[in-house]
Amino acid sequence: MMQIPLSSPDIIEKDIEAVVGVMKTRYLSIGPRVVEFENKIRSYAGTRYAIAVNSGTSALHLIIRGLGIGEGAVVITTPFSFIASSNCILFERAKPLFVDIEEETLNLDADKVEEKLGSLSGEELTKVKALLVVDAFGHPADWDRFREIGKKYNLKLIEDSAEALGSEYKGKRAGSLGEVGVFAFYPNKQITTGEGGIIVTDNEELARLARSMRNQGRGESGEWLDHERLGYNFRMDELGAALGCSQMERIEEILNKRTKVAEMYKEKLAEVEEVQVPYIAPYVSRMSWFVYVIRLERGINRDKVIEFLRESGIECKPYFTPIHLQPFYRKMFGYKEGDFPVTEDVTERTIALPFFNNLKEEQIDYVVGKLREGIAKNSR
Ligand SMILES: Cc1ncc(COP(=O)(O)O)c(C=O)c1O
Repeated sequence: MMQIPLSSPDIIEKDIEAVVGVMKTRYLSIGPRVVEFENKIRSYAGTRYAIAVNSGTSALHLIIRGLGIGEGAVVITTPFSFIASSNCILFERAKPLFVDIEEETLNLDADKVEEKLGSLSGEELTKVKALLVVDAFGHPADWDRFREIGKKYNLKLIEDSAEALGSEYKGKRAGSLGEVGVFAFYPNKQITTGEGGIIVTDNEELARLARSMRNQGRGESGEWLDHERLGYNFRMDELGAALGCSQMERIEEILNKRTKVAEMYKEKLAEVEEVQVPYIAPYVSRMSWFVYVIRLERGINRDKVIEFLRESGIECKPYFTPIHLQPFYRKMFGYKEGDFPVTEDVTERTIALPFFNNLKEEQIDYVVGKLREGIAKNSR
């Protein structure tokens, strides 16, 4: 029986040398590699500033704080995401207002966002301060629409592009599509720093605040015991940054490898009728693949298929479970089944299959074969 993990970082000798190189210097934190990494990401994303931090979650948190979104404020966002994209709003005692997703792209539905905003008035409307739009699984959202809506309602535009490093919307890179974006570098991402994240923006004031808040609220002089504001220790260390720099040097190769794996899956899954492969909208000029999430036809017991795949040595996950149905969201906001029907329908049918740079054709064949078997056993 084959054993195939869900994801696997692609670490080469050069990456290891880069990290070991840092260990031979005095600078394990607050040194030149973080700056170098920031410069690489900033120029790649096409933004003026990049501020590296210790996770994507920290990046989002600093954005919420930096934009002054706090108690009483409301942020419109998606219930179909990794939970951090919504938790960052709660950290600052603001309220996430969920709107359902598009059935095909799995991204926030711009029509429904407009409808929601159109239904609000007075204080309810003035409380809405921002749109936090996620590029789900690396697929950019329809940003022209969200920019339009943002302008009309005077909202901040936050792009959670944690999963979308290298993706493009109409020729423009993810991360630069809103007022501020983030990338995340956990080992299942396109590139990794171990743990890590980064904020990318053209907003100078936001960049300045984020830089200070990641570093205990220190001022620009960096004086160790001068603290201008409430801050955190959200710094990325030099080891992670060195790994990130080394990985960024072959970002093209990495993205191409991932595209090849996605294409192989698509080709082989074409014969499995009950499976819908990821949809790519025409406005996506480049798709950077984060995970490979398929959808099963209604009437197949998805959880049993996952169980069967796992018993066959294939690691897979039901990406995602809706945020609004997580126990503490239900408790805090009274959300219940049926609130966001598209999200709920999709999340009952999705499976993230093993996906990483060096996934081999024979492994894909094994996954597809077992998937077919699992479906046959579990169709109603
Ligand atoms: C959409 C999205 N937002 C935020 C995050 C948080 O990033 P991290 O795990 O680095 O904190 C992730 C990461 O998994 C993510 O997928």
